Amino acid sequence: MTSPTQSRKDRVVIFDTTLRDGEQCPGATMTHEEKLEVAELLDDMGVDIIEAGFPIASEGDFAAVHEIAKRSKNAVICGLSRAAFKDIDRCAEAIKPAARRRIHTFLSTSPVHMKYKLQKEPHEVYEMVIAQVTRARGHTDDVEWSSEDGTRTEIDFLCRCVEGAIKAGATTINIPDTVGYTTPEEYLNLFKTVRERVPNSDKAVFSTHCHNDLGMAVANSLAGVMGGARQIECTINGIGERAGNAALEEIVMAIKTRSDVLPFDTGIDATMLTRASKLVSAVTSFPVQYNKAIVGRNAFAHESGIHQDGMLKNAQTYEIMTPESVGVKQTSLVMGKHSGRHAFVHKLEELGYQLSSNQLEDAFVRFKALADRKKQVYDEDIEALVDEEIATAHDRIKVLSLTVIAGTMGPQTATLSLDIDGKHVTTQSTGNGPVDAIFNAIHALVPHEAKLELYQVHAVTEGTDAQAEVSVRLSHDGRSFTAKASDPDTLVASAKAYLGALNRLSSRAGKGEAGRRIHSTDVG
Ligand code: KIV
Ligand code: ZN
Repeated sequence: MTSPTQSRKDRVVIFDTTLRDGEQCPGATMTHEEKLEVAELLDDMGVDIIEAGFPIASEGDFAAVHEIAKRSKNAVICGLSRAAFKDIDRCAEAIKPAARRRIHTFLSTSPVHMKYKLQKEPHEVYEMVIAQVTRARGHTDDVEWSSEDGTRTEIDFLCRCVEGAIKAGATTINIPDTVGYTTPEEYLNLFKTVRERVPNSDKAVFSTHCHNDLGMAVANSLAGVMGGARQIECTINGIGERAGNAALEEIVMAIKTRSDVLPFDTGIDATMLTRASKLVSAVTSFPVQYNKAIVGRNAFAHESGIHQDGMLKNAQTYEIMTPESVGVKQTSLVMGKHSGRHAFVHKLEELGYQLSSNQLEDAFVRFKALADRKKQVYDEDIEALVDEEIATAHDRIKVLSLTVIAGTMGPQTATLSLDIDGKHVTTQSTGNGPVDAIFNAIHALVPHEAKLELYQVHAVTEGTDAQAEVSVRLSHDGRSFTAKASDPDTLVASAKAYLGALNRLSSRAGKGEAGRRIHSTDVG
């Protein structure tokens, strides 16, 4: 097999950082099991390098990177580290079980970062670059060095650092647009210049890493490749710090669809893009915007009469790629209460899901319950149901029953029963409205200090019997935890979404103070 660092000229290596830069963004935290599930899918999909996490950041990050390294099949497993030797050594330990492993070590090189963040002079930064790469090379021969804030770095200093890093053993050089500031032409020229000016540049693969603050992350990444980069760092659904990173699915399909002007290749099986998007959206509870390129709900929907007419005559009139090419099947089987297990499994496959037998069993039971309450079950209903199944599979706290008294007479009252680690508890609370009453009841049963940051409701489909999808975001200690839940009853969906976010907080906080408080809740 061709190793990514020796890739042919026209091969662009896909480096996925959904589990590191993606997971780093507020509210997108994933549990340990969810990270393993995402990593497995990325590996199956043909991602060349999976940046599995930042091992020094927490015990949880270390454990996830270590387990992903153990289970990896084809992909190179990479961990991130700062310049400190203890970071690099911890990273090396985390990726050790992988057959192919990479240490990605970075350091800021822009004037503003060096002065205010590092408080170091350029010559000191240069020495740190040499030292960090040398240390990393002591652990593995696959070392990536990143010049953080590379696009705002003075070109002479950037070239000097890149040359030094390669001399010290870096095999990949990443020049990140950390703050999403560059433009396509500028980024293309940056790669051209650095590759021309650095005498040993042919000894390393150059990499793009673009943030989307000005909405140009994908365009910039592709321009970087035109400038000579042969690795693109990206995330599923473009999740990541602030406005996110370059979206993997957009890069892959741009290269595939416009091979006339982008004569490159990736190793990605594009028919798995939809599945990957759904999985990442489900585990992070980050909805995919409807008009999102490639994986948005409307990406292949044609509403206007003129477009529909054209499509019926020839799909190429309004489609530059087929839905099938990204894993969306067109046939739509109408599901209802008479649909059996076989049809349900078929529908899930059509929608791009692959569930374990336990998940499938639970999802089928919930589908039957939904079909009993709703005349027609649409694809979106099934997607909402399965996404929730995936996201809540490992939850400690679950809703057993909820009864709400609402209306003009007040006080609005919620009677709530929960299952917390197998124990059943019940309480009744009032509130300023039914949702407030429910959240007060949750508070009484699961005392916590998290603050409600977002409460949002929207209908999954049309009609008065449509399922409500509720999103809740809680914040605690500067971190955000988001969860979604759907149910034909908006109030039940509200309770489930709030508990979903609390479950995330509890599993993330784990051994931390917040986790302890939730874990030690007296449920007896
Ligand atoms: O955006 C950035 O600069 C990064 C680096 C750590 C590569 O994520
Ligand atoms: Zn980044």
